Amino acid sequence: MRKKLIAGNWKMNGLTHDGISLAKDLANLYKASDNPIFDMFIAPPFTLLSNVLEVVKESGVWVGAQDCSMYDAGAHTGDVSPIMLKDLGCGGVIVGHSERRADHGETNEIVKAKAEAALKAGLGVIICVGETLRERETGKTLNVVKEQLQKSIPTETTAGRVVIAYEPVWAIGTGKTPTKNDVQEVHASMRHVLADVVGAEIAQNIRLLYGGSVKPNNAKDLLTLPDVDGALVGGASLKVNDFWAIAQAVM
Ligand code: 13P
Repeated sequence: MRKKLIAGNWKMNGLTHDGISLAKDLANLYKASDNPIFDMFIAPPFTLLSNVLEVVKESGVWVGAQDCSMYDAGAHTGDVSPIMLKDLGCGGVIVGHSERRADHGETNEIVKAKAEAALKAGLGVIICVGETLRERETGKTLNVVKEQLQKSIPTETTAGRVVIAYEPVWAIGTGKTPTKNDVQEVHASMRHVLADVVGAEIAQNIRLLYGGSVKPNNAKDLLTLPDVDGALVGGASLKVNDFWAIAQAVM
């Protein structure tokens, strides 16, 4: 049984006051829900990690960063290492988001190095993959996602510590989503690819999230697909009611 995971990627949003209040509201809801059947993860910007960790502590909400360095320490101005994140109290980190791949030229090899460094530091890791609109329109989706997975999955992958998020680039922030059949097709194919890369047992137990314009009104359709084990939510994770409504769709 794979426990559902509802993850919020705040991206470059949130100043101190609003960020703390959003985290506090979520933590209270999560804590008050009796034995929630889903895990909850939030990834605020680096600047808010300390504050957010403080306000959610003992609520069961899992907090992490949106990126990390592939290095442990040293002359890498502006970067943050996974060891630093672990030291701060983070439980995980997102790597390979398409915005990092596009804005910072992150290749599958870089994403894999980051994911391996994060695991070595004791963090959980959410690895993002997904095709562009052009790749979708030219029928390349399954091959693109397959190659991203094969090249960015750490050798030491376990189902407990690694989560994969399928986020079609064209669905992010656009209000567009693939059809339910398309999402299920990609997720089933990812599980198949993972079986080859990390073995059938891990592939069966690893959580596969869908991300890209997940909203309260489409969450149920997406989250009840057989190979969808949760959501990675951007815009709607900045509004407590929307994010909580998405989480409730797993019930
Ligand atoms: P939106 O939910 O805003 O489309 O963003 C998805 C995303 O990129 C999460 O990582």
